[in-house]
Amino acid sequence: PPILLLNGPNLNTLGVRQPEVYGTATLDDAVALATEAADELGWTIDARQTNHEGEMLEWIHAGRGTVAGIVINPGAWTHTSIALRDALSVPEVPVIEVHISNVHAREEFRRHSYVSGIAAGVIAGFGIRGYEFAVRHLVDLIAREPV
Ligand code: DQA
Repeated sequence: PPILLLNGPNLNTLGVRQPEVYGTATLDDAVALATEAADELGWTIDARQTNHEGEMLEWIHAGRGTVAGIVINPGAWTHTSIALRDALSVPEVPVIEVHISNVHAREEFRRHSYVSGIAAGVIAGFGIRGYEFAVRHLVDLIAREPV
C-alpha cells in the first residue's frame, strides 16, 4: 500500500507565501524529495493537497485499510482542528506530522498542535527536507525496525 502524503491549507502556495519563513521551494519540490526517498526504500507515495477541511477528513477516512502510513503537514489546521486529529485516528496507521518552519520559534498560537498527541513523531523547522526525513522514519516504523 502507498504512504499517504497530505498537505493542508495554503501549502499550494509554497514558494510564493512568506518565502522568508517557508523558503522558495514549491510543494512539487517537497513532494519530489519525499517520493525519491520512498522510491529508494521501495514504497510509493500518494501525495495530495487541499484547502478544504472536509475533503482532507474524507481522504484520511478512506486511508483505513488502504494506506501504510500518513505523513501530514496540516498547515493552520494543526492549531485549530480537533476534527482533523480525530480523523487521523481512523486509519490506525502511524502518522508523522511535518512543519516546514520551526513553529516553536514563531507566534505563540503556533506552539500548540492538536495533531501531535496522536502522531508517532513531529518534524518542524527542517524546511522541505522534513518531508524526506518523515518518509524515512515512517518506513522504519512500518517495517518495525526501530531506530
Ligand atoms: C506550517 C506551520 C503552520 O503554523 C502554518 O499555518 C502553515 C505551515 C509549516 O509547514 O511550517 O501553513 O504547517
